[in-house]
Amino acid sequence: MRLSHCHNFHDFRTLARKRLPGPIFNYIDGGADDEVTLRRNSEAFNQCDLVPRVLTGVKDIDLRVEVMGQTLELPIYCSPTALQRLFHHQGERAVAASAAKFGTMFGVSSLGTVSMEEIAKQYDTPQIYQFYFHKDRGLNRAMMERAKASKIEVMMLTVDSITGGNRERDLRTGFSIPFKLNLSGLWQFATKPMWGINYLTHEKFSLPQLDEHVDMGGGASSIGDYFTNMLDPSMNWDDVAEMVKFWDGQFCLKGIMSVEDALKAVDIGCTGIVISNHGGRQLDGSRSSFDHLAEIVEAVGDKIDVMFDSGVQRGTHVLKALSLGAKAVGVGRLYLYALAAAGQGGVERALQLMKAEIERDMRLMGCSSVAELSKHNLRFR
Ligand code: FNR
Ligand code: LAC
Repeated sequence: MRLSHCHNFHDFRTLARKRLPGPIFNYIDGGADDEVTLRRNSEAFNQCDLVPRVLTGVKDIDLRVEVMGQTLELPIYCSPTALQRLFHHQGERAVAASAAKFGTMFGVSSLGTVSMEEIAKQYDTPQIYQFYFHKDRGLNRAMMERAKASKIEVMMLTVDSITGGNRERDLRTGFSIPFKLNLSGLWQFATKPMWGINYLTHEKFSLPQLDEHVDMGGGASSIGDYFTNMLDPSMNWDDVAEMVKFWDGQFCLKGIMSVEDALKAVDIGCTGIVISNHGGRQLDGSRSSFDHLAEIVEAVGDKIDVMFDSGVQRGTHVLKALSLGAKAVGVGRLYLYALAAAGQGGVERALQLMKAEIERDMRLMGCSSVAELSKHNLRFR
């Protein structure tokens, strides 16, 4: 299978699986516990159907949306994800360049493998900094100051990862950061030589958002260890209110899953929320984002920008989320598999295919702009 044979999410996933060492593929692919929420996230879109209109004149399609004070040329953005240079040596650079090419937004993670400063300087497109709240308050303050100094537009605090989700695939494979070249690591290296050569011959693995504050030379640790040892489980609404005030700009909470919390986010001055269950990687058995979207939009949609992620694989998924009032839709694995499959060329192809799907589906729906999508063109079964 080659990149030119990839026509959808599943094709990129197949190619990524072929290219990546097993533990890395499973880190991206997996979810928590029994992966019920992971599966439900995508299945939920099939609970409702689109009702198209015809003969509306759909020669020109406008895919632009306004969200978090930014204009995006596409209603999808690349949600922040960790460790991208582990998936392909171009890592965050490939994702940022592709997002810039399509005029959309992307996020750099606290666990990113390229510095937020470099990315902000190199790529001219709206950028998110994804924040994890660490026990070390000095580190928190320093990260916000760095993001401010880099003129990063959007701060996104992830609030659904107060402790690590139970990723049993990672326990079985022994996935850790930095990626260990132990006996099984060496076996993986031997079976995926291209990945191994690229990993070893490019810039050494690092976490530049954290390096100054954390000694990553102290040995390998798991993602679960990071969450449990470094993040502050006592984080509460007062802490976040203080951050929002300090940031004094576009600030959203990622991982809001209840109306009550959405209302609190409005109260403390957030400008956005992302309805998300972290792609099914944290609390398994939690409701899918799509199932929850309508009631949150109804409660706060006119007060705050409601974004959405988790489970998006198709243009029609995007249309359904927009129809229920999401201002923009985040994708994670969609671009990560493509990154692993073929670096920047892969991510560009994934975004191009998604753009073409959304555009085609809008035409077939009889809608020439995103604003024309509404809940009236959806029916739940
Ligand atoms: C993530 N996600 C994530 N979120 C976040 O706030 N900070 C992070 O560092 C990461 N890292 C990360 C790594 C990997 C491998 C994945 C798959 C996901 C969650 C991500 O931003 C997004 O919420 C989900 O990926 C959305 O679900 P889908 O699109 O993957 O189904
Ligand atoms: C994950 C983290 C890093 O989902 O957010 O793996």
